[in-house]
Amino acid sequence: MLPSLGDLNSVITLSEGNTPIYELPKCARITGMEQLYAKHQGMNPTGSFKDTGMTVAASFARQEGFRWVACASTGNTSASMAAYAARGGMRSLVLIPEGQVSWGKLSQALDYGAVTCQLKTDFDGCMRVLNEVVQRMPVCLLNSVNPYRLEGQKTAAIELLEQFNWLAPEHIIVPGGNLGNSSALGKACLEMKELGLISRLPQISIIQAEGANPLVRAVRENGGKKLSPMRADTMATAIRIGNPASWKKAVRVLEATGGTVEQVSEIEIALAKAEIGADGIGCEPASAVTLAGLKKLVKQGFVKRNQHVVLILTGHMLKDPDFTIKFHRGDLFQGEEDELATLKNQQRAPIVLDANIDAVLKVLEQA
Ligand code: F0G
Repeated sequence: MLPSLGDLNSVITLSEGNTPIYELPKCARITGMEQLYAKHQGMNPTGSFKDTGMTVAASFARQEGFRWVACASTGNTSASMAAYAARGGMRSLVLIPEGQVSWGKLSQALDYGAVTCQLKTDFDGCMRVLNEVVQRMPVCLLNSVNPYRLEGQKTAAIELLEQFNWLAPEHIIVPGGNLGNSSALGKACLEMKELGLISRLPQISIIQAEGANPLVRAVRENGGKKLSPMRADTMATAIRIGNPASWKKAVRVLEATGGTVEQVSEIEIALAKAEIGADGIGCEPASAVTLAGLKKLVKQGFVKRNQHVVLILTGHMLKDPDFTIKFHRGDLFQGEEDELATLKNQQRAPIVLDANIDAVLKVLEQA
C-alpha cells in the first residue's frame, strides 16, 4: 500500500509508527460513551503524526538526489522534516510564522540543524513564499502536498485497523488544519476496503477550531464545493490555517466515508486537553479538538453512545507546555466568568510552599 523505493539505501527512518492505542475511561464517562479509544500519533520519534509521512517523503527526496528539503509549517512538520533531513544527510529550510509556533517545536527545528526563518506573516503566507522558493531553487518541497507524505501518513490508519484485528471502528475523529492527515487516513481506509482487509468503512469526521474553520464553513455553506480562505486565529497554533491545501481531498473523504465536520471553541479545546491529560495520556491543544468535537457529535446523535470511536491524537503533550501551564494557572482566558467556571474542575495550579512538612501535609489534607 506504499510506493516502493528503488534504492533501499535511501531509506531514512527513526523507527516511526507502531504507536499505541489507549483507552480513555474518564473521557468516555465525560462524553457519555461506553468506551473511547485514542491512537496517539504524538508517540512518534519527533512527537507528532508527521513522522510517518516524513520517512517516506524524505527517503524519496534523498533517492532523487536532492541536497535541500523545505517546508512551511505551524511547527510539527518543520520539526519532523528537520530531523529526517539531518538523519539523511540533507540540509533543510523551514519557514514558520513569527510568534505563532510553540517553543517546543521551534527548538526541535533548531537542534536538528534546520535553517529556520520566522516570517512576519501567518502559515498561509509562509506557504505562498515557499511555493516561489521551490520554483527558483532545486529544493524538494516536503509539505503535505508532497504525495509521498500522504502515502506515509496512511500507515496510521492501517496500523489502527490491525490493532483492532481488522474490525473497523464506526468512527475515526481527526483534527483538521491543512487537511493532509484526514485525506491520508481516508485514502487508507478506502484502499483497505477495496483490498478486502476491512468489511466496513469507518466514518471519518474532521474537527476544526472555531477561529480556523474554513472547511466547516465550506461544508455548511455550499456542501464543500468551494472553500473561501480566511484569516485564521486559534491558540491551537498547529491548526491555525485559513487556506488548507488538501481541502478537496478532505471533502471527498467526508463524502466517501459518511463523516461530518464540527467546530469547537478555545475554551472547549482547553477543557478537552486537560481531560485527556487527566486520563494520564495528554496531547497538544490541536489534538484535543477531537474530544471536544466528539462531545458535540454525541449530543447531536451523530455518534451513538455504544459505538466504537477512535480519536487521532496528533501531537505530544510536551510540544506546547506553555499552553498547559497557562491553563492550569488560570492565565489562558479572561472574562466570561460563567464559561470559565467549567474549567475549574480540571485546573491544578502549582502550589508554592515553604520547605516544611506541615505545609505539605496541610495541602495533602485539603486535597
Ligand atoms: N494536529 C497537529 C498537532 C498538527 O501539527 C497539525 C498540522 C494538525 C493536527 C492538522 O493536520 O494539517 O494534516 O490537517 N500541522 C502542520 C504543520 C500544518 O505544519 O506542522 P493537517
